[in-house]
Amino acid sequence: MLELPQQLAIGSAHSKLILVGEHAVVYGEPAIALPFPSIHVKSIVQPNEGPVLLESSFYVGPLNSIPEKLKGIATCIKQTCKKLNREPNGFRMHIKSTIPIGRGLGSSAAIATAVVRSLYHFFNEPLSKDDLLELVHMAETYAHGSPSGIDMEAVTSDAPIWFEKDKRSKKVDIKQAFHIVVADTGRIGDTHAAVSSIKEKYKSITDQTKYSIKSLGHLTKEAKRALKDGDLDALGDILNRAQDELVHLGVSDAGIDYLVKVARQAGALGAKLTGGGRGGCIIALAKHAVHAKKLAERFLHAGADQTWHFQIGSDENQYTTTTVSGS
Ligand code: MEV
Repeated sequence: MLELPQQLAIGSAHSKLILVGEHAVVYGEPAIALPFPSIHVKSIVQPNEGPVLLESSFYVGPLNSIPEKLKGIATCIKQTCKKLNREPNGFRMHIKSTIPIGRGLGSSAAIATAVVRSLYHFFNEPLSKDDLLELVHMAETYAHGSPSGIDMEAVTSDAPIWFEKDKRSKKVDIKQAFHIVVADTGRIGDTHAAVSSIKEKYKSITDQTKYSIKSLGHLTKEAKRALKDGDLDALGDILNRAQDELVHLGVSDAGIDYLVKVARQAGALGAKLTGGGRGGCIIALAKHAVHAKKLAERFLHAGADQTWHFQIGSDENQYTTTTVSGS
């Protein structure tokens, strides 16, 4: 006998930032991602007669009429119901997100994670990490084409992670807390297109592309060491060098380059794009909390759509993330 569903079920997930290694991670190089809990998604499921009704800021209506761009969410809901041996009807789902879409902040992985968690909760079923990752992967394949899997690992982790494709992610040692400022160009980037463009480059300009990908892998290893040693100057330099490689790979653009320049002129220890690029956000490593505040002001003055400032560190092996400003 199947149990009666809950009257109200909630699933949530937070955003993520890639510190270093994006794109190269698709080719088997390591990357480091940070949880970014300042912004998050909540999926709320309630019983409702008839076909599934979806309510969100990007679409309101029956699941079966969802626009093509959002088919990943529909697939995620249907596949989750299938896995649970339930029909995809008899409920409404309200998705509330403070993660702007298409900014390299993991919105698609966070939405899928929140959706799966809310449906398991609704149907009173325990959810294993493997089942969660399998279901989110399906939605991510819609969003990214051939995702490495880093986004879904990062949005389900409370700690910074060291990620390599097809391997279990590991926690990263952080000796000294650091301040990151995120600045949003306000423009939607297309991760799917950015990943495909590098794939094309890999076929035509092989040596140069391979070199940049390998370099990003080395930089990620150096970043791991810098975090372990608490060497923020070294970390900043690594972020700058990673940005150079991402420029070579063709995934930066004029708007990102401009904000990176603003960050460096304002004394950031390092700055680079984060996520897929070609629009989206940059991250800047600040010297300290007061400097982070100044950086955030400079970004807004330079035309950034929005900024977030947060601190990440570890306290007796407990990772701490504190939102200082932003949503
Ligand atoms: C997107 O957040 C990260 C990319 O490396 C794509 C992926 O790893 O799936 C650009």
